[in-house]
Amino acid sequence: MELFEAIKSRRSIRKYSDKPVEDEKLQAVLEAVRTAPSWANYQCWRLVVVKDKNTRGQISALSYVESYFASKGYKSNPSMKALADAPVVIVLCADPGQSGVIWGQNYYLVDAGLAAQNLMLAAKGLGLGTVFVGVYDEDKLKSLLHVPSEIRVVGLFPLGYPVEEKKDGPARKPLQEICFYEQWR
Ligand SMILES: Cc1cc2nc3c(=O)[nH]c(=O)nc-3n(C[C@H](O)[C@H](O)[C@H](O)COP(=O)(O)O)c2cc1C
Repeated sequence: MELFEAIKSRRSIRKYSDKPVEDEKLQAVLEAVRTAPSWANYQCWRLVVVKDKNTRGQISALSYVESYFASKGYKSNPSMKALADAPVVIVLCADPGQSGVIWGQNYYLVDAGLAAQNLMLAAKGLGLGTVFVGVYDEDKLKSLLHVPSEIRVVGLFPLGYPVEEKKDGPARKPLQEICFYEQWR
């Protein structure tokens, strides 16, 4: 798939078929993460790849954080079922000690974000679907997956074959609203 086509047509996928993800495709997605750019090439990201159905179910349950969703008027995390149903869940972690902090900006989240976009575009290019899930009980998730205390969990990515086709996603702001030329105005 052509790059701009993948960028434009990528959508958050929350419904998956039972079809397993082939090892070569999973490996290609992981390789895409591995090749992302990062602060001083420190590569702070770490991944936990979960296929076990029971563990996926537990991850799914931890994506519903009542205090957050109730305050937003949501019944649940819209991706809760996706995490249980998709044949693979990639847990994207990062070691903040392996990235840069400069003038109050901590770049580990940027590094992880770049890795996340590589992951999502690679999935799209391979005919797979995924969605960035950023709301979960981090402490319980870390204890479930034995993630060391100094590591942060940055996102969860169900991965599988989509059974929903999404042409248009939520609207984006027009370029005039987000882009200035020469000066901020
Ligand atoms: C940092 C981040 C966190 C997100 N967290 C969640 C989440 O917890 N649950 C969910 O269903 N979608 C989540 N999303 C997906 C967004 O809602 C989605 O990307 C956005 O609405 C745009 O839709 P699109 O991805 O189809 O273009 C998250 C996206 C990002 C980038």
